Amino acid sequence: MITPQTIEQIKSRIDIIDVIGEYVKLKKRGANYLGNCPFHNEKTPSFTVSPAKEIYKCFGCGKSGNTITFLMEHDKLSYVEALKWLANRYGIEIEETEVSPEQKQAALTSESLYVINNFAQKFFEDKLFNSEEGKHVGLSYLKERGFREHIINKFQIGYNPSARDELSKALAQNQFNKELLTKTGLVVVRNENELVDNYRNRIIFPIHNNSGKIIGFGARVIGKADKAPKYINTPENELYNKSKVLYGSYFARMAIDKANECLLVEGYTDVISLHQAGIENVVASGGTSLTTEQLRIIKKYTNNLTIIYDGDSAGVKAALRGLDMAIEEGLNVKLVLIPDNEDPDSYVNKVGTTAFNEFIAANKKDFIIFQLEIMMKDAGGDINKKSEVANAIAATLSKISEPKDLIKRREYTKRCAEILNIAEVDLTNLINYHIKDRIIKENKLPKVNESEFFKDSLNTKNENIFETSINVLLDSNFQEREIVRLLIEYGDLNWDQEKKIHEIIFETLNQFHLSNEDLKKIVEQYEEELNNNLIVTKNFFIYIDDKSLQNLVIGLLYFPFELSFNWSKKIEGLKVQLVKDEKEAVSEGIKWYQAKKLRAMLLEVELDIQKHSHDEKLYLKNIEVHMKLKEVEKDVLKNPKTVIFY
Ligand code: UTP
Ligand code: MN
Repeated sequence: MITPQTIEQIKSRIDIIDVIGEYVKLKKRGANYLGNCPFHNEKTPSFTVSPAKEIYKCFGCGKSGNTITFLMEHDKLSYVEALKWLANRYGIEIEETEVSPEQKQAALTSESLYVINNFAQKFFEDKLFNSEEGKHVGLSYLKERGFREHIINKFQIGYNPSARDELSKALAQNQFNKELLTKTGLVVVRNENELVDNYRNRIIFPIHNNSGKIIGFGARVIGKADKAPKYINTPENELYNKSKVLYGSYFARMAIDKANECLLVEGYTDVISLHQAGIENVVASGGTSLTTEQLRIIKKYTNNLTIIYDGDSAGVKAALRGLDMAIEEGLNVKLVLIPDNEDPDSYVNKVGTTAFNEFIAANKKDFIIFQLEIMMKDAGGDINKKSEVANAIAATLSKISEPKDLIKRREYTKRCAEILNIAEVDLTNLINYHIKDRIIKENKLPKVNESEFFKDSLNTKNENIFETSINVLLDSNFQEREIVRLLIEYGDLNWDQEKKIHEIIFETLNQFHLSNEDLKKIVEQYEEELNNNLIVTKNFFIYIDDKSLQNLVIGLLYFPFELSFNWSKKIEGLKVQLVKDEKEAVSEGIKWYQAKKLRAMLLEVELDIQKHSHDEKLYLKNIEVHMKLKEVEKDVLKNPKTVIFY
């Protein structure tokens, strides 16, 4: 682990213009720099970089981040790789933290396993190309199946000879630790003390992690597998964790990014043959159902997943399991079944690249529709079963819940209702039922409680008055964003001799609660960091791990309240003054935040007055509340300096 000190040192040296300038031609525009966005195609520049804030944002595609995330996204580096890249650039020596003995041992073991795997891969490759047996048995088998030499080299394929212990002997000569050797699965212990090769007479497919290091192997028998298992795979060890690996991801990641689509096949040879055919955005699952970790690898690059399996494979059912998870994650899942007992490997070899691509394009089936059709077939004419199917599909559709996907859900509802042969409105109701059910279960029902502050001052027992409707409060988003921005930008500065600005802002937030969940999260993080470190700098959020929080904060920092100056030009007679300093900015921000919240409450009370005009007691109380609120509002709005949107 790189020490926090080193990370801080790197961050303090970062020059965002210098780094991004390597990739994008930047021109100075006011305080910022402007260029063509490297993340999407554009002719007029909308990619801005702020050297002062050390952030970038593209107003075309919306990508934003800091210097480190830029390197991660643009060059597909890991966090640690990005840090090392920067350290190297700025000549900073990297200090690694003291680790616990167990961690140290695990790291040592991993390191050794890499070394052994590397050695074995070279051995296998050498045997495949340079031994008589390798050439006659291994290479000729691969050639017969249509694999050409450049692709065999690219995937570092090899051959384990059929003798009892050729690899074992070579390993022993290099004095590798026996215990480690058995961990790799390359060898097994026989007769108590003797090591023999585990993958004798097999083709060896190395499995790479995302940075290209070999973490394990798949070993295939030559020809038909009658007695022995077709493949032997590396056992779980410090390096190899089956549920976290997608075979081929190292070779596919750039292509997936570029195509904005990930093809998923079952086997090693499917990946390799498709690569040979020039289709490189492809990874393999190994025929089991997808895990969350594997979905996460895919989601790093694209939201579009296309599963290509052979039609009769047991793998199809396996793959379908767990795909609700993918839907929930917002992935668009498509399915293509290859006909006639072929798999992607044999099919692409049979029909060629063009026809293969055409077949995929023409036969992509939507996963949700596919699932529904299979379930309907199983249900036959049974009415009970059919209603179960409707329920199941409603549950699946209810998981499409991102606001941006609502049209997608509506479209699905229509098509699924047709297939189920029921009225669309019935299915919609069923879906809504599932959504409500889930919201209640997750207890995400937004409850806005503005009443604390006023309950005391008015000494009223009427709780309902301030049960402010979220619709009204949502409109305070602008003011909420501003107050959170002020917290991030100035929270750490002094308000007066006793208080910091963040304390003043927290007082306000305790009186009038934020309603935006994301902003709440930022404030919670702020408080947590304050408890841990006593100070919270802007950098804490700019470099925070949580990508969505980071984006949100960058959005806030890019859209300061000063924008409202533009409004003075539009609204005649409106006076706008520049704020003098951060303290004035804060007091203005707080003022408008309170005013907005008060306005929402006033509106609510006004509605209540209308609704309950017949109830005299309630009416009078409402009027009283209304007057109080008005007073407070007037007080808040004394000498406004900036413009506010109501
Ligand atoms: P397949 O049986 O479809 O093999 O298994 P394949 O990949 O098409 O290989 P070829 O073309 O016959 O040479 C699909 C995947 O399932 C895993 C492997 O990852 C394989 O690539 N598998 C299969 C095993 O792990 N063990 C086995 O015994 C069989
Ligand atoms: Mn195959």
